[in-house]
Formats: sequence, C-alpha cells, structure tokens
Amino acid sequence: MATLSPNDLIHNPHVVTKQVYLGAQPVIFRLLLAGDALLLGRYFEGLSAETRRRYGPHPLTADEAERLCATIAVHDTLRFVALLPGETPEIVAYFILVLGVRDNEIARYAGYGEPLDPARDCTFAPSVADAYQGRGLGSLLMPPLLDAAQRLGRRAIVLMAGTQATNARAIAFYRKFGFEHIGDFQTEIANHDMILYL
Ligand SMILES: CC(C)(COP(=O)(O)OP(=O)(O)OC[C@H]1O[C@@H](n2cnc3c(N)ncnc32)[C@H](O)[C@@H]1OP(=O)(O)O)[C@@H](O)C(=O)NCCC(=O)NCCS
Repeated sequence: MATLSPNDLIHNPHVVTKQVYLGAQPVIFRLLLAGDALLLGRYFEGLSAETRRRYGPHPLTADEAERLCATIAVHDTLRFVALLPGETPEIVAYFILVLGVRDNEIARYAGYGEPLDPARDCTFAPSVADAYQGRGLGSLLMPPLLDAAQRLGRRAIVLMAGTQATNARAIAFYRKFGFEHIGDFQTEIANHDMILYL
C-alpha cells in the first residue's frame, strides 16, 4: 500500500530528503529542485568520457540541466541529487527513478517471461561523479532511494536500458542491493537486464 503519492511530492519534495555521511562529509540526498540548474549543469559537464560511455539517459549538458529544472515533473519521473552542502555546494550524484516502464523494457522483460506493469513498476538510472565513484557514495544513497520507491507503492525496479555487460562496478553495485540478472540483450554491445522486487 502506497504511503506517498507523486502529488505529495509536488507539495513537499522534502518528504523524501535524507542526510547521509560519507565519512565525516554530510551529503544531502533530495529531489532535484527548480533552482538547481547551475549545479546540475556543472555535474553533467564534469562527467568523464568513461562515465558518459556507461550513462546516457539524456544529453548530459548544461542546457539539458536547465530544461530539466524548468520542467520538474515528479508525477512521472523523480530526479534525485546528492549535494555536498556548504558555501560552494556541489552535486556529486544524480539518480533517476521513472515511475513506470518504457516500451523497450516492457518488450524485453516479456521475452524473459517476467511481465512488467507500468502502473506498479519503476525504472532506475543512477550516476555518481567520477571523483566519488567506488567510494561507497552510491551505496549510501540506495536505502533512501529504495525507501522512496517502496513508499510510492512500487513493486519492482528495472534498469533503464539495462547495464553494459562490461560494467563490473555497476553490476556489483546492483547485486549488492538485491537486483537479479534476469536476461541479456545486444545493442552495439552486450547488456544485462537486472530487476529488484521490492
Ligand atoms: C554504478 C555507480 C552508480 C555505483 O556507485 P558507486 O558510488 O561508485 O558505488 P559504491 O562505491 O557504493 O559501490 C560499488 C560496489 O562495487 C564494487 N566494485 C567497485 N569496483 C568494482 C569492479 N571494478 N568490479 C567489481 N566490483 C567493483 C565495490 O567494491 C562496491 O561494493 P562493496 O561495497 O560491496 O565493496 C557509479 O560507479 C557510477 O556512476 N558509474 C558510472 C555510471 C554508471 O555506470 N552508471 C550505471 C549505468 S547502468
């Protein structure tokens, strides 16, 4: 039973805000807000070629950051950011949680015999700033992310466009939080589909 609706998030985006600590460093994990365009643009523009090769949910540019911040639509897509607070705040992670599933995922999962339900399932695409990858930040952000998905009444989470079969860190990361490798598909490269039942 959902305890939270997207409408609640429109009126109070901070109901899903959490503070975590990366060592002694406080990190605020919260929904993207209209005023974040500059910081999000810096985050996108700072991502390395290697990270861009792994992560491409949309253009990773300052213009796209402006567009996203001008059109926040929590009824269908939650965009979380991890922020280092202070005089010069910095975004160090950006996690997308789509409340629903896209036709591509629906078709692939049907082929695995695991039908998805757009009304109850959701789609995930996480990224962490290069300087923070492999340092435990993503792992700190997963419990609040999963908690939000659960409170929104979601049944399962699948990966947006799967994950590249060579992306060992991402695969280890998803497995750590209980995602199961459910199938494979080929684009120009080999990819895994992974699903977590909440
Ligand atoms: C995938 C990603 C979101 C994970 O976040 P993160 O903060 O780097 O992850 P963490 O450091 O919390 O955890 C990574 C886990 O993988 C393990 N790991 C790290 N490098 C690894 C490697 N090369 N092979 C296998 N496991 C690895 C770590 O040991 C850790 O597990 P542990 O806590 O049990 O030791 C982040 O690395 C990222 O943004 N990568 C680039 C973009 C991307 O690939 N996004 C996902 C697209 S599907």
